[in-house]
Amino acid sequence: MRHSSPEILLPRAVEVISVSPDKPLSDRIRIRENVRPPLAPKEVRIGMLAMNILPADLLQMNHQYGHQPSLPYVPGHEGVAVVLEIGSEVSDLQPGERVVPFGVFGVWSDELVVQRRSLVPVPSHAPVLQQAMLAANPATAWVLLQHQVTLQPGQWVIQNAANSAVGQCTRQLASHLGFQLINVVRRPEAVAYEEGGHWLVDDGQDPDSLQESVRKITQGEPVVLGLDAIGGKASQALAASLCPRGRLVLYGLLSGDPCSISAHDLIFRNVEVQGFWLANWFSNPNNRQQAKSVYPALMELASQGVLRMKVEKVYELGEVHEAIAHSAQSERQGKVLLKGMHLHNAMNNDQ
Ligand SMILES: NC(=O)c1ccc[n+]([C@@H]2O[C@H](COP(=O)([O-])OP(=O)(O)OC[C@H]3O[C@@H](n4cnc5c(N)ncnc54)[C@H](OP(=O)(O)O)[C@@H]3O)[C@@H](O)[C@H]2O)c1
Repeated sequence: MRHSSPEILLPRAVEVISVSPDKPLSDRIRIRENVRPPLAPKEVRIGMLAMNILPADLLQMNHQYGHQPSLPYVPGHEGVAVVLEIGSEVSDLQPGERVVPFGVFGVWSDELVVQRRSLVPVPSHAPVLQQAMLAANPATAWVLLQHQVTLQPGQWVIQNAANSAVGQCTRQLASHLGFQLINVVRRPEAVAYEEGGHWLVDDGQDPDSLQESVRKITQGEPVVLGLDAIGGKASQALAASLCPRGRLVLYGLLSGDPCSISAHDLIFRNVEVQGFWLANWFSNPNNRQQAKSVYPALMELASQGVLRMKVEKVYELGEVHEAIAHSAQSERQGKVLLKGMHLHNAMNNDQ
């Protein structure tokens, strides 16, 4: 690492130079030093504090995502930052304020220059790692529960991969909103007994068995919404657990297998199946009104402690290869994050 002066480190950025999954990570991802460009009047220089590693980042690095940037690119969809410098026409932010960049791609950097309008101020006293995880997964859980079917308090929902970050947010939001939720995980150690609720350990390979277990929990009451992060045969198992005309929303492709649904469920029980991508939902003009309230509501719930996601480990930006490998492992206890060079300036860096 070169220094521009003995004291000042140049900011770094992670760069993806190849998306061939057969190459080792070290040949696909590198760290480069970044320049500090001058600011345009409406721009802000931010110093990244912490950045989340999402399955979407990993899919993109393997050329499997819905949006593929051209190479080389700086990855990263979400994180939290501190304002370092403001452009001459920015009057409503000050250096030192903490901000979450929304709709900004390429946040796995020590520093970024972004438009003022992409930044939402967040409290500087709140847990910084939680703020780094606010943009994607809580919003996904919120929109899945609030804007796919009209749910009444007391109605039943079922989700798989319930110990994922989306699954944690779904549990916390469902409890807050008064919905009844069945949480399916694939291994017993993933059951969060301390949180209460309804849990099933099921690998999703036997639809009859899951259906029977679900019926015992609900006492035959209808399960109207199924949230599927896995695909493959797990989709079939979740669909079979739904009531006639229930809705299965496929939002993740964790198994990598094509989504399989029984013709019986589609034809005779009219189970509806739909795909969901948060990026498409936000960009759909029909959702403009509903979209405005998503982040204010989530920030309020995060500040009340309703939303809280688990963290497994935080790596330095320079340890990005280890961090990515760790993040791709199964059986984690929570998310793997990166920290930028400005984190030591944050007043509170707990979770
Ligand atoms: N559509 C959208 O807009 C949208 C937005 C956000 C997230 N997502 C998707 O939501 C999913 C969860 O994301 P996240 O960040 O919350 O995940 P995460 O916190 O990293 O957790 C990963 C989860 O996936 C489970 N898992 C991994 N591979 C699996 C497999 N082959 N079969 C069954 N379970 C498997 C893990 O179970 P173990 O603990 O047992 O290993 C764990 O529960 C991802 O697919 C992500 O792409 C979609």
